[in-house]
Amino acid sequence: MKHIYKEGSNKNLPTLLLLHGTGGNEQDLIPLANMIAQDASILSVRGNILENGMPRFFRRLAEGVFDEEDLVFRTNELNEFVTESADTYGFDRSNVVAIGYSNGANIAASMMYHHQRSLKGGILFHAMVPRRGVDLPNLSDTSVFIGAGKRDPLIPLEETKELVKDLEKANAKVSEFWVDGGHQLVREEVEKAKEWFDQTYRG
Ligand code: MLT
Repeated sequence: MKHIYKEGSNKNLPTLLLLHGTGGNEQDLIPLANMIAQDASILSVRGNILENGMPRFFRRLAEGVFDEEDLVFRTNELNEFVTESADTYGFDRSNVVAIGYSNGANIAASMMYHHQRSLKGGILFHAMVPRRGVDLPNLSDTSVFIGAGKRDPLIPLEETKELVKDLEKANAKVSEFWVDGGHQLVREEVEKAKEWFDQTYRG
């Protein structure tokens, strides 16, 4: 997969897996990662799907309606890519934390729904429920920060709550942070995510 890898100065921190939103690319979330943990290594990936020229991580049938078969295929593909990259670049595969926005947050959530040890944690900005009717693996070693907008036109409040409930039921440690706005990512959420990251991974 097209990507950028940058080794960080602090090898004890998790490697940050950066996953952009629809129409984005592997450059997009680098400033965000620098705000959250400048000293961490990053693996920033471009989604393999193109929708009218816009990169994405999996196909959708309509806005908010996912192509489930493709979602599962792409989730496995990304999971394997992270494993190969750990080999190539020499980072710890068991210590990877995703930072995803929108479509990128959705595939990060999907990694958690389908694979037990794919991610040590995740910062999910404006994520949806990736899939329904599946049993999640035991996520007792997984910590998740969810940033959401109370007036997100793409993601009803109830859907974010359903995502939180699914993850908690699978024993993940979940922190929610709500902003008054919509689907856009705002600075307040990024600051909260940084606080959460520091508390969770710098102890
Ligand atoms: C998705 O397709 O993942 C969601 O609708 C969010 C987005 O627009 O990317």
